[in-house]
Amino acid sequence: MVDRRTILVSSVQACGLAALASGGYITANYLAPIPEGLGEEEVEIPAERLKPGQGVQVVHKGKPTLIIRDREGELHALTAVCTHLGCLVKWNEDAERIECPCHDATFALDGTVLGGPAPKPLPKVPVGVKEGMIQLGEKT
Ligand code: FES
Repeated sequence: MVDRRTILVSSVQACGLAALASGGYITANYLAPIPEGLGEEEVEIPAERLKPGQGVQVVHKGKPTLIIRDREGELHALTAVCTHLGCLVKWNEDAERIECPCHDATFALDGTVLGGPAPKPLPKVPVGVKEGMIQLGEKT
């Protein structure tokens, strides 16, 4: 017969194993390199959708990419992968800068490093508008 103590210990062990497994899965996904060149599709977004000061994250040719329209209306596009350890960066509309949530690197609209541990600027991606649609890549 199984006593309550055995059931309790088994339950705690099962929960611990589940926590370890899920933590390992999350860690593996976090550290895995972002696949490159998964698609050759063109990203097309209606130009009027992005208002001055706003940014949007898309996947362009398999790479996370930030498209930002500055307050003057000019478009900027940059690879959205931090040059420190590869976290996804985000556009902070209020601060008007790009920020990495992992170790607080900050970047200007042109990708230059403003602060934090990032060793290099964010690479720029060609961006333009064709027939009312935002387009990324060499066709712009
Ligand atoms: S990964 Fe972005 S600051 Fe470390």
